[in-house]
Amino acid sequence: MERSLSPATADHGSATSPTRSPWWRSAVVYQVYPRSFADANGDGIGDLPGVRARLPYLRDLGVDAIWLSPFYTSPMADGGYDVADYRDVDPMFGTLDDFDALLRDAHACGLRVIIDLVPNHTSSAHPWFVEALAAPPGSPQRSRYVFRPGVGDAPPNDWESVFGGPAWTRVADGEWYLHLFDSAQPDLDWSNREVREEFAAILRFWLDRGVDGFRIDVAHGMVKADGLPDVGRRRDGLLDTAATPYFDQDGVHEIYREWRKILDGYPGERMAVAEAWVSTPARAARYVRPDELHQAFNFDYLTAPWDGPAQRRVIDEVIAAMSAVGAAPTWVLGNHDTVRPTTRYGSVARARAAALLMLALPGSAYIYQGEELGLPEVTDLPDDVLQDPVWERSGRTQRGRDGCRVPVPWAGHTPPYGFSPDGAPAPWLPCPDTWGPLTAAAQAGDPESTLELYRTALRIRRAHPALGDGDLRWLPAPSPDVLVFARDPGFVCAVNMGAAPVPAPVPGAPLCASGPLDGTLLPPDTAAWWSTDAAGQPLG
Ligand code: NOJ
Ligand code: CA
Repeated sequence: MERSLSPATADHGSATSPTRSPWWRSAVVYQVYPRSFADANGDGIGDLPGVRARLPYLRDLGVDAIWLSPFYTSPMADGGYDVADYRDVDPMFGTLDDFDALLRDAHACGLRVIIDLVPNHTSSAHPWFVEALAAPPGSPQRSRYVFRPGVGDAPPNDWESVFGGPAWTRVADGEWYLHLFDSAQPDLDWSNREVREEFAAILRFWLDRGVDGFRIDVAHGMVKADGLPDVGRRRDGLLDTAATPYFDQDGVHEIYREWRKILDGYPGERMAVAEAWVSTPARAARYVRPDELHQAFNFDYLTAPWDGPAQRRVIDEVIAAMSAVGAAPTWVLGNHDTVRPTTRYGSVARARAAALLMLALPGSAYIYQGEELGLPEVTDLPDDVLQDPVWERSGRTQRGRDGCRVPVPWAGHTPPYGFSPDGAPAPWLPCPDTWGPLTAAAQAGDPESTLELYRTALRIRRAHPALGDGDLRWLPAPSPDVLVFARDPGFVCAVNMGAAPVPAPVPGAPLCASGPLDGTLLPPDTAAWWSTDAAGQPLG
């Protein structure tokens, strides 16, 4: 299969050529959490001009696209996933002009731009919700949200917020409104035609501005089961994927069919990726049927333990489920909601090996900012700096997701490591004082660094005809703890997740390795890539 063109060489305006696969099937997408990426104006908070200034870094890293977490007008009750105006930029992050400039420069750097769409809920500061509160029960204003009478003094049903506590809040006249997340994030009612039309118009607003796609927040949540029946059990936070009457309902797919038509109506291969925490890869595949969205995050992979058989099982399941609907798999090791891989897997060596494995798998991959620096989760943030609503809503029993949202360290020896210009106030979350060796500047040019590992791997991935979209072929492995596979033509990847060194599957020097090989042995927690000819011999 021919490689997709990079946007630098692709004609954004032309129809899809039948001879190449669309860009997203092979793309490496870098997630920017704008609040924590780079602060240009020196207020201690990352912003869009900060992202724009760092585009050359992303281009040189070798990614194909960036996904921007929300930058819209927001009271920031949930880091911007509480949107008050879907068509404007929050002053904290800049202006619409800043967005346009960022988009223009990204395209000039050969980077596509995906933005975050938050359709399950608005902010309680959104004009619609303000109107709903001012209007009486049963009014058209209330019908854009999910208002219901309670049962006596109790909420309408037993649903819990993903962030903890009840999913219902009572308003002055006694009705309750649904919020699957924070009480400042009221759920919209997607059976209301006006809601559907508004989001179709929001999609067009950003498509007209030139964005390449959307990441759909809570893509599994917009439609609730008729009658809002009880769940009958307790859920376990964001990562709980068991079936409920409010997630993964069949009705969501009708929305995506509508959106697919909108996306297909624009030139330049616009796409959308679903954030759908669902129970199995087969359920995730329903979001990427040919007339729905283009990608769905592969959370089964993200949550798989560092264990050979478990990883192999999930890789096989995902490839089978996605190919059954003609979609390319995606792979993801982390995001702004999950514990960073260095900490989750227990060592930076494993995180590095996982990165090489992920980037060798068929399909597309997502990298969360700072993963390329091997950043660990910050687990000792003091109570008084925590911002994630999970902290308060869980009654201060869960610390939440701030530990993976600490500002990116760029340069220098002391916090905030070039995140803000010199003389700026402290950043919105404090950086550990041990991160000097982890800055991008400290790692650049050091062949042993995680940054250089990512740069090398992404360079090889872009050039090698076997990588990106396609298939894999498992090869015999010395133990179930070791994964060995080939990609055609001429590529082999091996990862040792066991405790003992094993013979490398291919003689000779690897193209790239996550750690040193021991002669012909692949040590524990190490991955490597080899170029081979048809007989499995190294090409040198
Ligand atoms: C998923 C987002 O990734 C997360 O950060 C947010 O809190 C919830 N959706 C609610 O919008
Ligand atoms: Ca700023």
